[in-house]
Amino acid sequence: MSSAPEPAIAAIPDGLTAIGAAGAAFRPAIPASELPLGAMTRRTFGDLDVLVAHTPDGLVAIDDRCPHMSAPLSIGILAECLIDCPLHNGQFDLRTGNVTRMPTTGGLDADGRYHPVWTPEGKDPKPDPPGIKAEARRLTRVRRLRFYPVRVTEGQIEVAVPG
Ligand code: FES
Repeated sequence: MSSAPEPAIAAIPDGLTAIGAAGAAFRPAIPASELPLGAMTRRTFGDLDVLVAHTPDGLVAIDDRCPHMSAPLSIGILAECLIDCPLHNGQFDLRTGNVTRMPTTGGLDADGRYHPVWTPEGKDPKPDPPGIKAEARRLTRVRRLRFYPVRVTEGQIEVAVPG
């Protein structure tokens, strides 16, 4: 009986390896058989929550914290290589680490460009909160995703995480 082929590993975009992950020990995350194409899951190592996703480009591991305001991306929506945040409609590309749709609250993109507040189609606009909260939204920078090295050993997906 032949076993299923091992999933591919997606390449980490240049410069976007998570701090402390390069050279860190690989730790078991989930059996490959439990993460079919299109699935994602949260795995926790100490106080670090990691999202492991099986995309058409292969397996990917990132922080399970939206780079906007830290919501768990693992309960968002994964479509091919794009992941939608459940909190403010931000969307990120797991191939490049880039934001592909800014959060509804607007703010600064990774390169420091300002983007205004926006409203999803069919919803009433929400006014900006007054004072310092509006300022906080404007100054919140949506960084690029950070990635953890992944490998598959004897059918087990492993992730290199610091600590
Ligand atoms: S926390 Fe994800 S878009 Fe705001």
